[in-house]
Amino acid sequence: MNSAPQQPPAADGPAHGGDRILILDFGSQTTQLIARRVREHGVYCEIRPFGIGAEALRAFAPRGIILSGGPDTVTADAPPRIGDAVFECGVPVLGICYGMQAMALQLGGAVERSNRSEFGHARVQVADGRASGSLFEGLGGTLDVWMSHGDKVTELPRGFEVAAASGNAPIAAMADAKRRLFGLQFHPEVTHTECGGELLRRFVRDVAGCGGDWTVGNIIDHAVARIREQVGGESVVLGLSGGVDSSVVAALLSRAVGDQLACVFVDNGLLRKNEAAEVQAAFGASNVLPINLRMVDAGDEFLRALAGVGAPEAKRKAIGRTFVEVFEREAARVQDARWLAQGTIYPDVIESAGASGHARVIKSHHNVGGLPERMNLRLLEPLRDLFKDEVRKVGLALGLPEQLIHRHPFPGPGLAVRVLGEVRREHLDVLREADAIFLDELRRADWYHKVSQAFAVYLPVRSVGVVGDARRYEHVIALRAVETTDFMTARWAALPHDLLARASNRIVNEISGVSRVVYDVTGKPPGTIEWE
Ligand code: XMP
Repeated sequence: MNSAPQQPPAADGPAHGGDRILILDFGSQTTQLIARRVREHGVYCEIRPFGIGAEALRAFAPRGIILSGGPDTVTADAPPRIGDAVFECGVPVLGICYGMQAMALQLGGAVERSNRSEFGHARVQVADGRASGSLFEGLGGTLDVWMSHGDKVTELPRGFEVAAASGNAPIAAMADAKRRLFGLQFHPEVTHTECGGELLRRFVRDVAGCGGDWTVGNIIDHAVARIREQVGGESVVLGLSGGVDSSVVAALLSRAVGDQLACVFVDNGLLRKNEAAEVQAAFGASNVLPINLRMVDAGDEFLRALAGVGAPEAKRKAIGRTFVEVFEREAARVQDARWLAQGTIYPDVIESAGASGHARVIKSHHNVGGLPERMNLRLLEPLRDLFKDEVRKVGLALGLPEQLIHRHPFPGPGLAVRVLGEVRREHLDVLREADAIFLDELRRADWYHKVSQAFAVYLPVRSVGVVGDARRYEHVIALRAVETTDFMTARWAALPHDLLARASNRIVNEISGVSRVVYDVTGKPPGTIEWE
């Protein structure tokens, strides 16, 4: 294990001074998953575009290289190529799907378009040969794997042996143990692939010899050293939202530069019940992480900006604009601030760069509207190399409360996307109460952590109800709870009926102004998670 002190990296070099793996991205949907699995084995890795230059590759100094899958076919006229430096730098290489096919073709083998594409589950027979090196040794027999390919390797390059075969792909895995080159037609990064995690572990730890030094403790030590090196004695401003990312940035900066950090929490009046108080409690002066926190009550200002605005995008714009105004005003009060810290995380960086690998541009909504330039502040993004699960581990290790670290995501525009149409104070008040009841019932029934996101929505349509002898026309509350891993697709959560009944009863009985409660049973697609 390599626990030697790590040097802060050069501007464009790797963000970790220890053992590292380079993942070259050929555009697969699962490239990020490869990186997450590698890091789960304690090995730092970065994703770079497949066309990375030879010099940048050598500067990265990987102990091993993984070539991702991708949507292209090597049988096309000018398919994406693996740079020669990959094979020349002498480190082990693992090609996955497209990566394997390109490797086979470029090293002298043959690839054909398969007359039968293979998607989903397949069974592969692992070859007995010792030549597959430590990658397949002892796995034996058959493995259930996840395939997604149209092409297949039909002829091995010189020096390779078949390491696994499936009915449809006689060369489902190949290995040249001497040169430490491996190819997998299937996707080891996908959880449905039996022993997939183990194959990746063997590649990065046993074959490439990485030491497993990417631990929470090392991540924190390294980040703290880097922040101190960047910031020196200067002051930093951070917009704290109460979400996981900005909270972890606050905790890290507090550890690194103590009272050189000033946090600004803008209460936009669109928060959930008790949210501002909870943030204050988590970071209050008496807590484990004392930070200099400025709470700004700007609810009226946001409501004024939202008056008469009904269209979702117009609401988002009004909120964004107002946020920048308020934040800029407050940040200007922080004496001698030179840095603006942000909770950009690695998936934001990767998604912005894309497989084509142009400059690392951050998604516009992560930037506080040109504010760094206007205020002459430099951007500080201490989480930009971390995945969300790593951010959570860092937060917990720094002493942030479990409840904050494992909370559901909450949209930046807050309850404004959950009050349909114009956002009015009285509607927000009703929604806040209904939402709090729903979340309370979820927690009591131990369902909060079984769903990925849950909330109430305010529908400004009137529906009839009876209270005692009187009929009343009041508004409708919709409840939504979804299960998802990536928030790109989602299933509605099959909550127990008695839980829904308790939430519904409490909402209509405890809140005046609500006559009816409905539960949203729409998946994504076709529905989105928010109602807007
Ligand atoms: P949708 O509604 O697009 O939501 O299915 C997917 C995820 O994104 C969140 N979301 C937002 N987050 N600003 C945000 O910061 C927004 O405008 C916004 N709209 C949706 C949503 O809560 C869900 O987690």
